[in-house]
Amino acid sequence: MSGNFSLIIKNGSCFIEGKLKNIDIGLSGNKIKKIGKIDLNSAKVFDASNKIVLPGVIDTQVHFREPGSTDTEDLESGSKAAVLGGITSVFEMPNTNPPTSTLAEFDKKIKLAKNRMHSNYAFYFGATPENSDQLSKLKNLDGCCGVKLFAGSSTGKLLVDKESDIEKVISKSDRIVSIHSEDEEILKLRKKFIKEGDVKSHPEWRNAECAMSSTRRVVKIAERYNKRIHVLHVSTKEEVDFLAMHKKNVTFEITPQHLTMYAPDCYDKLGSLAQMNPPLRSKDHYDKLWVAVKKSIVDVLGSDHAPHLKANKDKKYPNSPSGMPGVQTILPIMLDHVSKENLSLEMLIKLMCENPCKIFGIKNKGYLKEEYDADITIIDMKKEQIIKNDMIASKCGWTPFNNYKVKGFPIATIVNGKIVMENNKIISKAQGMPLKF
Ligand code: DOR
Repeated sequence: MSGNFSLIIKNGSCFIEGKLKNIDIGLSGNKIKKIGKIDLNSAKVFDASNKIVLPGVIDTQVHFREPGSTDTEDLESGSKAAVLGGITSVFEMPNTNPPTSTLAEFDKKIKLAKNRMHSNYAFYFGATPENSDQLSKLKNLDGCCGVKLFAGSSTGKLLVDKESDIEKVISKSDRIVSIHSEDEEILKLRKKFIKEGDVKSHPEWRNAECAMSSTRRVVKIAERYNKRIHVLHVSTKEEVDFLAMHKKNVTFEITPQHLTMYAPDCYDKLGSLAQMNPPLRSKDHYDKLWVAVKKSIVDVLGSDHAPHLKANKDKKYPNSPSGMPGVQTILPIMLDHVSKENLSLEMLIKLMCENPCKIFGIKNKGYLKEEYDADITIIDMKKEQIIKNDMIASKCGWTPFNNYKVKGFPIATIVNGKIVMENNKIISKAQGMPLKF
């Protein structure tokens, strides 16, 4: 077959049915139309010789701060950072100001995103102790990836800390409930461990038991009601052991920060720039998180892109806010781990392309298949790059990986059939669409 392709990706090594195959991909509009040998010269051609062609890479946890803190990030700047980093779709978090915890606020965000986001997108609906009766209305809502529940307080005002309220949210939600799992009661009790000016006390305050206690609670509730939950940014060895035995109702995420840095070195090097919730912890936890990757216990990787202005991060701990940017660096950092043979490329694709689609039910994405959406990330595994603050498109303008050298880098991002990023430059206008579930 020939045909009228709007774009042909030629000579790439394409990840198809679990293997890399040298093959061409013909796109028509926003769909993958043909995978095979394509002898046609009239259409626009992208020469992918010596490059690897992946299904569009998805970041399932970003905070783009709009509405509320648009001096730090907005939907446009955050999604620019995403496509520059090879990310084609994002799940964006509701701890904005006001929070995305009513249908009116949700609708407002969908409208704010239109023609401004460079990647595709879905938004989380934020759970509160009062809004569980709204959750049934999210059932077939396009652009909604699920419900976010903060069991422990972090940035913003969203919090559902009482067990009876957590139970109400999980039992009443038809969509997956993704959980920031730290125990608020323990956080309050352990405030005495905060040492002013010493960010190394952050993981003492928000200790492993604080995370484990909450995770034990939410998993039991999910099992009691036979509901599906997703535990975000798992950070402890105890949770990995526990979650490995409770996979029926539960999936979980690890961040690249927790797989690349550990205490105390990260705090010596970065000070409060390394401060996040749940915290970066000691090497024994880091080692166990890698076991979760290597043994395929973990389900997805998410960046928890949580930008804060440098001026605020430079405040004396604990007045410094928690979180660091990551949507632009998650793929380069993880490709570098692939180069170092810490995980296979196949595993990375499972964690960042296939599993997000399977777990959250995203339609028509996650694989290079005919009739699937033409969201594609093209990478060069030989490209070496030093990550620098001045490459960062996030309005915060810094990265915890400044001066970090990686091998393996995204060189083009295709969203809805259009090349939006090529060689570190954005080359088309914002035309991201809400994800369908
Ligand atoms: O460190 C964090 N920062 N963890 C979160 O869960 C929230 C995030 C933020 O929004 O700043």
